[in-house]
Amino acid sequence: MKNFYVTTPIYYVNDAPHIGHSYTTVLADILTRFHKILGYQTYFLTGTDEHGQKVQRAAEKRGVTPQEHVDEYYHRFEDLWKKMDIGNDFFIRTTMPEHKAYVQECLQKLWDKGEIYSKEYEGWYSVGEERFFTEDELDENKCDPISHRPVEWLKEKNYFFKMGSYQQKLIDFLESHKDWIVPDYRWNEIRGFLKQPLNDLCISRPKARLSWGIPLPFDTDYVTYVWFDALLNYVSASTAFHKTYADGTPIWPATYHLIGKDILTTHCVYWPTMLMALDIPLPEHVLAHGWWLVNGGEKMSKSAGNVVNPMDYMEKYGIDAFRYFLAREMVVGQDANFTHEGFVRRINSDLANDLGNVLNRVHRLVLNNFEGKLPKAAQIGEAEKEVIDLAGKVIAEIKEGLPKARLSQSIETIMQLVRSINRYLEVKAPWKLAKDESKKDELATVLYISAEAVRLSLCLLWPVIPSKAEEGLSMLGSKFQSAEDLSWGVLQSGETFGEGKPLFPRIEEEKKQEQAKPVQKPKQNKPLTAEEVPAEMDIRAAKIIDVQNHPDADSLYVLQVDAGEGEPRTICSGLRASYKAEELKDRMIVLFANLKPAPLRGIMSNGMLFAGDTDEEHVCVLIAPPEDAKPGDRATFHGIAPATDGRVLKVKDFEKISLEVRGKVVFCGENTLEIGDKPVTCDVLDGKKVH
Ligand code: MSP
Repeated sequence: MKNFYVTTPIYYVNDAPHIGHSYTTVLADILTRFHKILGYQTYFLTGTDEHGQKVQRAAEKRGVTPQEHVDEYYHRFEDLWKKMDIGNDFFIRTTMPEHKAYVQECLQKLWDKGEIYSKEYEGWYSVGEERFFTEDELDENKCDPISHRPVEWLKEKNYFFKMGSYQQKLIDFLESHKDWIVPDYRWNEIRGFLKQPLNDLCISRPKARLSWGIPLPFDTDYVTYVWFDALLNYVSASTAFHKTYADGTPIWPATYHLIGKDILTTHCVYWPTMLMALDIPLPEHVLAHGWWLVNGGEKMSKSAGNVVNPMDYMEKYGIDAFRYFLAREMVVGQDANFTHEGFVRRINSDLANDLGNVLNRVHRLVLNNFEGKLPKAAQIGEAEKEVIDLAGKVIAEIKEGLPKARLSQSIETIMQLVRSINRYLEVKAPWKLAKDESKKDELATVLYISAEAVRLSLCLLWPVIPSKAEEGLSMLGSKFQSAEDLSWGVLQSGETFGEGKPLFPRIEEEKKQEQAKPVQKPKQNKPLTAEEVPAEMDIRAAKIIDVQNHPDADSLYVLQVDAGEGEPRTICSGLRASYKAEELKDRMIVLFANLKPAPLRGIMSNGMLFAGDTDEEHVCVLIAPPEDAKPGDRATFHGIAPATDGRVLKVKDFEKISLEVRGKVVFCGENTLEIGDKPVTCDVLDGKKVH
């Protein structure tokens, strides 16, 4: 049997759970449910990180012991996961005796092997981050580079793990496991980090300064550094608690450690070297997701008062709507933007309109015309074949994409199936067929095909919206029981449909909210900041319909491009060293459409096209829209809502940002450029700029 073990980070027990924590946990839950239905044995671990200075201080402040403090606070996470339908197999707390004993056992083993040594150490110590920094690592104000708080010079004896001696072994491992870190640009980041010498890791804190930790077994005047303690949870949670899969196979190694991008180094450098030293196999993959930002790009923080509380959304709009939004909205790896308007829009369009409509239509028509019993498909024509073929393709794509954690893309694929059923219904108009007794067979076919396609869509969505999918399936008189249900033809004619009510009622506040909180538009005459530029760029797919040499410039072509505006535009472009005219004709490009028109050697150029640099001077590669893009389709940066004020930009505005290619995808910072949810690509090397 195949195994799937997924972990979330263990969350700092002091923190109030927010949308960032919920995201990772929901992602883990969806992946687990999905693997379960595909027949894997699964194990899903989450928990709380309960040692360290911040906990000790918070307890002191409240006048309770640290243990009392954590016993009270960890519930916030555990309770939230229960409310969110999270099916974790275990909730580990680092203060559990089994975990503490396991950490001590590992420390003793490393000490006995000579992998840990003590030395006098002096350096800049940050109380907030609970660690030393070197002079070079400090920020420009000589403060801690993470929290930017003052640091103090400290001299003390400490214990060190010989992490540096594993540098080459880790490099070799990474080189032979290029998919170990997902997405691949995070692999590059760690590989880059390892080009510098790797220091040993200080793994102790003197008890005099910090008592709330696991004592070192070989020197009880010291406690263990929180990260060394915390990372070991991934193994202790099964080993120290004597847990195995049902068939007795060990749970470790993890298939996926899901983490946020901020804790990449601890998971991809500290952790694998610790495991190497302990002779424990490494996890199969580390997947680093991006950050949830709010209000168009702000970091959430208590002090800014912009933290999104998951409970508010779940209580008001339902657990499944919230789970759906999280999973659909963030492309794994990239940052995502949370806005209330975006949430309402997404739920209304995908769940209330697309999914809700199709289910209600089919349900109602079967109830009204076949006394609630599913009729038999009489004749399968072209339109029916199309739906069945698409369903087959979608199942195959999901089976291939979800194990790679391509969650938001997988959901979009399922929604394409849902939308295709709606289109099929529009074309076949069963409500008209129902009025004509001679069309009863045709009506039966349309309803069977649609009902079966909706059933499949609901099964595929079950990992994301478990309760609502089950409710929808029971409306169709069906259930989701096993992997066999993920194939065409499971619904039997004669099946009795159940009761029904709209699965996701439309959220009616959309308009009001939009009026109440207008998007802040930059003033037309105020220069744009670098953060504002991406939203203001009008970028579109366009087709080159004519190519002429520029009469007065050897490097330029004069192109006519169709950007879906009725009239073609003229643009001048320096592509002569890169492309022959015939290679350009009829080609789809990506156009920066609201750039101020400018004359280029006497010919007005109305816009600019995007191309990526190569190693050769003057030679570039055109950026390509996704295959199905049509002229005029708008490209946006993922997570950045486009501005709507029709502002015209100058070259100097564009120069404030930098577009770059990573893994053949075009990025602005962490945001991919995309058209209709598919990335805009460019076949150049990683790190090349787009101009
Ligand atoms: N305790 C450590 C993890 C130890 S794992 C052995 C820790 N805890 S945390 O509570 O601060 O963060 C847990 C996770 O939440 C991290 O993966 C972090 O990236 C994630 N997030 C915190 N804020 C976030 C967002 N705004 N958006 C998405 N995830 C973010 O680090």
